[in-house]
Amino acid sequence: MNNHYKRTLVTTALPYANGPVHLGHLAGVYLPADIYVRYKRLQGEDIVHIGGSDEHGVPITITADKEDISPQDVVDRYHSMNLDAFERCGISFDFYGRTSSKGHFRTAQEFFREIDSKDIFVKKKERHFFDPQTKRFLSDRYVTGTCPICGYAEANGDQCEQCGTHLSPRELIDPRSKLSDEVPELRETLHWYFPLGRFQGQLENYVERHTGDWRTNVLNYTATWLKQGLADRAITRDLHWGVPVPIDNDEATGKVLYVWFDAVLGYISFTREWSENRGTPELWREYWQNSDCRIIHFIGKDNVVFHTLMFPAILMAWNEGRNEGVYSLADNVPASEFMNFEGRKFSKSRNYAVYLGEFLDKFPADTLRYTIAMNYPENKDSDFSWQDFQNRTNGELADTLGNFIKRSIDFTNAKFNGEIPYECTEEDWRSLGIDWEDCFDRIEKAYEDFHIRDIASLTMQIARAANRFLTDSEPWKVLKTDPDAAARTMALSVNLCYTLAIAWYPVIPHTANRIYAMLGFSETLDDALKNGSASWDTAKYPQLKRGHNLSEQSEILFRKVEDKDIASELEKIEGLLAEIEKKEAAEKESTRFKPEISFDDFLDVDLRVATVMACERVKKADKLLKLQLKVGSQNRQVLAGIAQSYSPESVIGKNVILVANLAERKIRGELSQGMILAVEGNDGKMNLVEVSGSEINGKNVQ
Ligand code: MF3
Ligand code: ZN
Repeated sequence: MNNHYKRTLVTTALPYANGPVHLGHLAGVYLPADIYVRYKRLQGEDIVHIGGSDEHGVPITITADKEDISPQDVVDRYHSMNLDAFERCGISFDFYGRTSSKGHFRTAQEFFREIDSKDIFVKKKERHFFDPQTKRFLSDRYVTGTCPICGYAEANGDQCEQCGTHLSPRELIDPRSKLSDEVPELRETLHWYFPLGRFQGQLENYVERHTGDWRTNVLNYTATWLKQGLADRAITRDLHWGVPVPIDNDEATGKVLYVWFDAVLGYISFTREWSENRGTPELWREYWQNSDCRIIHFIGKDNVVFHTLMFPAILMAWNEGRNEGVYSLADNVPASEFMNFEGRKFSKSRNYAVYLGEFLDKFPADTLRYTIAMNYPENKDSDFSWQDFQNRTNGELADTLGNFIKRSIDFTNAKFNGEIPYECTEEDWRSLGIDWEDCFDRIEKAYEDFHIRDIASLTMQIARAANRFLTDSEPWKVLKTDPDAAARTMALSVNLCYTLAIAWYPVIPHTANRIYAMLGFSETLDDALKNGSASWDTAKYPQLKRGHNLSEQSEILFRKVEDKDIASELEKIEGLLAEIEKKEAAEKESTRFKPEISFDDFLDVDLRVATVMACERVKKADKLLKLQLKVGSQNRQVLAGIAQSYSPESVIGKNVILVANLAERKIRGELSQGMILAVEGNDGKMNLVEVSGSEINGKNVQ
């Protein structure tokens, strides 16, 4: 680990401004980052948390098309929705930017120009559809036409919505431009590729240096890519939404940077914007271009290689041949596994999710933050369940932490006039049975290693010990017989409240502020941290002196989650699960097998590779195609029920598997000499079993 750094820059994956963030996003990325950042602020460290919206990419223009609004409208909506939800959840960004900002365009284009000027990009000529009327190249989604598979007339260039087949625009029958409805032409167009392979060696060294400190999952995903060898990646697209390729000629017109190239650079442009807003426009360099700074990217596992290979390679390309303005590479990339929801993956398309904003309309942020911290998916996928949320809120937050704080404050208010009645010594503090040094060492280590679950559970252990101490000391009984002992108990308890306020601040900051207020401080804990009157280390020793006055008000920190509160949520899930399960049951059905046969029985079936030479539809039979097959020196005519999945032209030339010794029969008046193998998908689509290989016609399948 690196201990000589003076500053830390934390970035969190930029969520697409194409939908609301859900609890899975919070668990994997934003909460762990916020917990870490708040802890470092408590330590008085110089740390900056940069995040923002990823506002480019085709899915956003698709949403805009669907709703008949502009892409800008789409990103405006989700940018503010997500920013608002994060704020309510207490995710404390120093800056939350947008990749549609001017500042971002400037940085992203600067990177492109720098790398282009070094001739690092590879340019490739490709043939793509071009709309002669709007004079624009059409990205896949902007070409429509008839699906070659199912005949659907409005298929998209990337996929047919009716049969689900993935297509390329050139496979469409009668392609048309969605922009003008004109017939597009194929034209040669130039695209810029980033030659990742050129940086293979440097990247291997970079990753190698971190085998000791990066998580296993991060190293594994990265190693898989490195092992396969890194290929060129296209970094431009023909699209009207994004950062324009900053070259002023016809070749570049109408092209934008590929969303991934531009998004990772958002971290840099947002740090620059943050600097500018503070009136110190060059300050960002202290974070990005100074080896004193440690850079940490919090992400989910699906984003690993973009952060361990692509982004570093882009920075290496920038740095090449430079002595000044050299960017640092990330020191750590703590990627999470996924947090599931009630045993299943979150799914935006099935609407199987709890969105952050919605959740916060019903329950307080800190109960969520605590439950999620306790279920942080560090090494394997974890689960959020309503039952667990209820148990943790009621049993741990309310009954342990909340109960201890309230009893301490209320009793001191009632019996000691709200004044700390005794001056705690270090000896008193140690007599609590907590090995403070060891306890804080363990918590600090958990923070340094991003062990979020350990952070939360170790901190809860302090609350448990405090609660036990107060209960066992029974000040309400002792008060009459030994008022000094009761005074000592309460002074210690209230000091423990202080300790808990500080120690809990990173995980449940709203609660920490409320405890701090109950302790009689007039400034908020947030402010106390800023001006240095409270810090992490103050939690380790008693801080509140004899005579310190508490606030007269105490409040219930956590309202219990009632069964009825979660009942409607559980009902909702049940409905969704029933639907999903129905689908899955249909899939399982197919694993019931036929009765056993002998090996000889199997050998009796003569399976051969046949090639489709010609094919036509069968009149008045919309499911059938009539295929002319060649098997070795023989020709066969076979009828197959695949007409709704394949056009006659599309099967010609395919090598299929023929049951060659099946008795002839007539179907719809036509002779069928055998049968070809096909699989029916859940979507009802037929999929031919195809064989690849050369010189295999007529061969036995065994
Ligand atoms: N928008 C991407 C996603 O949600 C993440 C982008 S992270 C960054 O998967 F690198 F682009 F910033
Ligand atoms: Zn189709």
